[in-house]
Amino acid sequence: MSYLADLFSVEGRVVLITGGGSGLGYHMAEGFIKSGAKVYITGRRENVLKQSTEKLNSIGPGTAAYCAADVSSPESIKKLVAFVESRETVLDVLINNSGIGGGDPSVSHLDSIERIQEVFTNSDPTNWDKIYRTNIWAPFAITIAFLHLLGAAAKARPGEGRGSVIMISSTNANSWNPYMSLLAYNSSKAALNLVTKTLAAKVYTHGVRVNTLSPGPFPTDMNDPTQEEGMTNPSNFHRLPMGRAGNADEISGAALYFASKASAFTHGADLLVDGGLGLVQNGTNRITP
Ligand SMILES: NC(=O)c1ccc[n+]([C@@H]2O[C@H](COP(=O)([O-])OP(=O)(O)OC[C@H]3O[C@@H](n4cnc5c(N)ncnc54)[C@H](OP(=O)(O)O)[C@@H]3O)[C@@H](O)[C@H]2O)c1
Repeated sequence: MSYLADLFSVEGRVVLITGGGSGLGYHMAEGFIKSGAKVYITGRRENVLKQSTEKLNSIGPGTAAYCAADVSSPESIKKLVAFVESRETVLDVLINNSGIGGGDPSVSHLDSIERIQEVFTNSDPTNWDKIYRTNIWAPFAITIAFLHLLGAAAKARPGEGRGSVIMISSTNANSWNPYMSLLAYNSSKAALNLVTKTLAAKVYTHGVRVNTLSPGPFPTDMNDPTQEEGMTNPSNFHRLPMGRAGNADEISGAALYFASKASAFTHGADLLVDGGLGLVQNGTNRITP
């Protein structure tokens, strides 16, 4: 095996990807399967998981399996742990990718006090609860729930970067622009970054690494390219430093780095894969809030 292939190898590694049935989660699942890993995916929609697992197994026969679970439910997390425990003694990679968007209704021209107050009047706290529970509590709880299997992976083959947790955050975690309608989502990702650092500081004695991967715009169900104001809509590409959205290989490449020996000394880091969006989105190069 070449030096490069060995450094970035995930051959035979056991990977669990939440939200792996669609979007970025599916792209990463495919990247891992093509690289010789064994992948478990989870999500709430069994039909989506079944279809995606069939697709993954057509690429790497017998290397993908699914377990339907709602990551915001403690009972579901226990079921997921039992499912993986019944098949594996270690978990080399956990990707906490499940997430939901949404937020408050969009209000344009937020320059008057009345318009800003309209955001509050129309804000639904149950929506914030759902976003925070899914985007912050779930990745925290799942990481804790799988710590024994992650620790076992790290201990079994030290120095190989095994026992790696990848939190899928967002470049929007660093965004303090006036996108009031995205505040629930953006603040949930900012909080996830602190959860990541805190977990990283807690678990390193067990050999487990925890890092953040923060994507920018990638076309998915959540970041729908047909949405007029969305950053994956080609009509808005002129606002992006690279003039385009990200693609499947570009998210998988970053995940493969965090999953392999190449990142064995990387812990508590945040890798932005956003085509430079973070450089401009708090400045003037922004879409109407
Ligand atoms: N696409 C982008 O431009 C972008 C940018 C920055 C960050 N991100 C982040 O990337 C991650 C993936 O998003 P995506 O763009 O790929 O969106 P997506 O296509 O909507 O995928 C989200 C996935 O999360 C799963 N999920 C949601 N709630 C869940 C729950 N309660 N339990 C289990 N699974 C759940 C969904 O499956 P079910 O509905 O079947 O449960 C779905 O497979 C998210 O964390 C998102 O915040 C995306």
